Amino acid sequence: MADNDALPANIHCARDYEDLARQVLKAPTFAHVAGGAGRDTAVAANLAALEAVRITPRVLRDLTHGATTCRLGGRRHPIWLAPVAFQELFHAGAERETARAAAATGTCMVVSTLSSLPLEEVTGPDRWFQLYAQPSRQATLDLVRRAESAGYGAIMLTVDAPVHAPGLTSLRAGFRGGLTPANLRDAPPVDTSLAPGEGRVFQGFLRHAPTWADVEWLRGHTRLPLWLKGIMHPDDARTARESGADGLVVSNHGGRELDAAPASLTALPAIRATMGSDFPLLFDGGVRSGQDVFRAIALGADGVMIGRLQAYALAVAGALGVGHMIKLLREELEVCMALSGCASLADIAQADLSGRPSAGGN
Ligand code: FNR
Repeated sequence: MADNDALPANIHCARDYEDLARQVLKAPTFAHVAGGAGRDTAVAANLAALEAVRITPRVLRDLTHGATTCRLGGRRHPIWLAPVAFQELFHAGAERETARAAAATGTCMVVSTLSSLPLEEVTGPDRWFQLYAQPSRQATLDLVRRAESAGYGAIMLTVDAPVHAPGLTSLRAGFRGGLTPANLRDAPPVDTSLAPGEGRVFQGFLRHAPTWADVEWLRGHTRLPLWLKGIMHPDDARTARESGADGLVVSNHGGRELDAAPASLTALPAIRATMGSDFPLLFDGGVRSGQDVFRAIALGADGVMIGRLQAYALAVAGALGVGHMIKLLREELEVCMALSGCASLADIAQADLSGRPSAGGN
């Protein structure tokens, strides 16, 4: 963790924060962030799928009216800060630092249920609340009401992590979690007892896991826009819309849940095709550059969320680092737009690509 936050001299692109964070963070903490589920094959797939998409240069267009305005809420740019738990691991100021960067850069920050600071203490003009369903509907509703009272703009329910098995990278590096999420300090203890013959996964963790019925129930209990995070199949996307979701995040949780999952990018075209051009879709998983932001938008996303790079920039230089990382991503996106003849995000959706995953594949 940086002692006094200042921009390091040797950052030339957003991804450079990864290398610096490796030097700044304790090895187990870096492994916890960088690693994924199992043997990290989904993490690698996310990166490789983005890299494989090539963008054809287009020339001599007048782009002086160019802008990165995002149709979701008319935001200045299409970059969200993904929910990243326990930010005290990266900086003493935790989520408060990230929120300062979000405010300074006109970025929507999605605050995790598992934040180090209580959700009321993470303030700013554009915040959404990431919800993990709790063992009881009442406890879930308590969190939603707190987020509503604190002025959060949307609820993002994460649906792809009903059970979590730490990955090998993190385990082998000796990362020990053991942190208490501030938002859940008063939560009653959960009954984890098993009857003879019952299994730890199905009858244990999944006893309290949410189902589609809970999504419909939640939809009926908040006026805030409801997003579902962690959708990878077109049929789930359709069911989500039928259950009342206002938007979806196409995501494999940064490869941190199912190690055998496909890259989230490969799921994106088919989900966009299924949902039609108007339905709000965010994307995450492997975004490390402005070119990656472009690639995701070209394949159907309205915007992208940034997970690991956020943690790295926070560790290296606090709010300054996160703000700088977003600025670099934006500039990288603009350069990529300029070189491919795109003046707007709508133009990106029509860009010429090669190596793209097809809408038929999932
Ligand atoms: C996450 N992610 C996550 N997601 C979520 O819904 N709630 C959470 O509390 C967390 N916590 C979390 C911690 C850490 C250390 C990481 C790296 C990730 C997943 C995150 O929101 C996002 O889906 C991925 O990180 C996106 O992939 P990239 O950008 O990290 O490749």
